[in-house]
Amino acid sequence: MNIRKAVIDDLSELVRLESIYFHNPWTNDQFKYELEENVFSTTLVIEEENKLIGYINYWITFDNATLNKICVDENYRKQGLAQKLIDLFEEDCKKNDCMVETLEVRVSNEPAKSLYMKNGFTAVTTKKGYYNDGEDALYMVKGVY
Ligand SMILES: CC(C)(COP(=O)(O)OP(=O)(O)OC[C@H]1O[C@@H](n2cnc3c(N)ncnc32)[C@H](O)[C@@H]1OP(=O)(O)O)[C@@H](O)C(=O)NCCC(=O)NCCS
Repeated sequence: MNIRKAVIDDLSELVRLESIYFHNPWTNDQFKYELEENVFSTTLVIEEENKLIGYINYWITFDNATLNKICVDENYRKQGLAQKLIDLFEEDCKKNDCMVETLEVRVSNEPAKSLYMKNGFTAVTTKKGYYNDGEDALYMVKGVY
């Protein structure tokens, strides 16, 4: 198992996992933009025997970090892989002197909410109808001082 920065050759695998595990999946073009153009964006992937089994995407814009996506293939869950990705995200935040980390998560997504709370995020507000199917998002924040 290896964790590394995503490259353009990972696009099809990223899109494949994304379309399986997200109701509002990023498209090929969105990932391409994140990988090739968005200088604030980082995508890390977990590779197991040349197969992608997880990824994280986040933006660090000066002292502000936004966690956009985290995903682990369902056959590899509950083995601490998402936690490893979060640890790398936190390391990068620290390196960049981030003051605040934010994210949105579906109110129904118990595994993700638990992961974020375990890592020090607090729900500060509900964004009504945030997702295109009408579900609310919890807006979660972690202050790093
Ligand atoms: C959320 C997700 C990334 C967790 O991945 P994972 O590799 O299984 O998580 P880990 O094994 O690293 O678990 C870390 C913590 O997450 C939480 N967690 C993970 N799976 C959980 C579950 N099924 N139920 C409740 N809490 C869970 C727990 O707090 C866990 O800590 P613990 O093991 O001490 O209880 C994974 O379920 C996933 O890919 N879901 C689909 C995509 C998604 O919803 N992403 C988040 C929204 S952007």
